[in-house]
Amino acid sequence: MDISLLLHARILIIDDQLQNVRLIEDLLRQHGYHQLRGISSPQQALEQFVDFQPDLVLLDLHMPDLDGFEVLDQIQSRIPSGIYLPVVMLTADITRDAKRRALAAGARDFVTKPIDIVELLLRIRSQLEIRFLHLELARHNEQLQALVAERTQELEQSRLEMLQRLARAVEYRDDETGEHTRRVGDLSARIAAALGVPADEVELIRLAAPLHDAGKIGIPDIILRKPGALTAEEYDLIKLHTTIGADLLADGHSKVIQFAEQIARSHHERWDGSGYPLGLAGEQIPLVGRIVAVADVFDALIHARPYKAAWPIDRALEQIHSDSGRLFDPAVVAAFFEVVQYRQATAAVAA
Ligand SMILES: [Fe+2]
Repeated sequence: MDISLLLHARILIIDDQLQNVRLIEDLLRQHGYHQLRGISSPQQALEQFVDFQPDLVLLDLHMPDLDGFEVLDQIQSRIPSGIYLPVVMLTADITRDAKRRALAAGARDFVTKPIDIVELLLRIRSQLEIRFLHLELARHNEQLQALVAERTQELEQSRLEMLQRLARAVEYRDDETGEHTRRVGDLSARIAAALGVPADEVELIRLAAPLHDAGKIGIPDIILRKPGALTAEEYDLIKLHTTIGADLLADGHSKVIQFAEQIARSHHERWDGSGYPLGLAGEQIPLVGRIVAVADVFDALIHARPYKAAWPIDRALEQIHSDSGRLFDPAVVAAFFEVVQYRQATAAVAA
């Protein structure tokens, strides 16, 4: 390490004998160190430590009133964990026990009195080298952490984008803009929030719900886009989009794909057991499926489809209301109305 860097280090000297303090200051100054502060009153040690922000402390062990151990304790309490700030003890005669105690209390090294300048410079230099290497490492780690955070965000962004594009690909034959899937995602998330679902799961539902019809990828165009009424056989084929979608999304490792699988399989189940594919009833139907059922039907009603015109919103709301407890979970419908009324109220205010 470049010695000139070390010479800029801030060194705090604490010794109750003022002549010792001056002696050490002179010696260090002669050898190029210039940021020095010496004190002979250990009671001021903590205050001076906080004010001076040293890189290294030279601390006398034997002082009347407040000895080196107590000062060491005070100083250690102000050094954040993970920061290497060396305290070097100055001592005339040190027993093995006292040495052990000082090391346990956080001292990094010892210099024996009377002071040998070569020894003092050597100890200071090696302790400062360790401190500056630690600081450099900490800076490097911080940069790495920032880089990792940035990369993680990029990865998350591309993962979300892939999900959105997949949802859009699925709907492309019906709805080239992908707006239906996005709206069903948003409305499902709002309903989930109104039901008290935790915020992180609400966001997963927002991402997973647009994939509810993923299985339509396996349904032929001639049936999917048929303008007139479907035959019973054709309708049976359409129903398969739930299990095809669930199979496509099965065994996902991420929670969002697991939600998407549940939603794909259960969004056409009905509260009274009249739905498909399994004919589940009530709370047998996963909550996410019950939520998306309402959002999907409402959005389909108020927009035009190849086989029907768009319904006015009031008529669609009436329909959802009358199907509550029959086709839809009443609690989900209540949450849906909270969301819709809030949106209509804010839209009226905005208008
Ligand atoms: Fe569907």
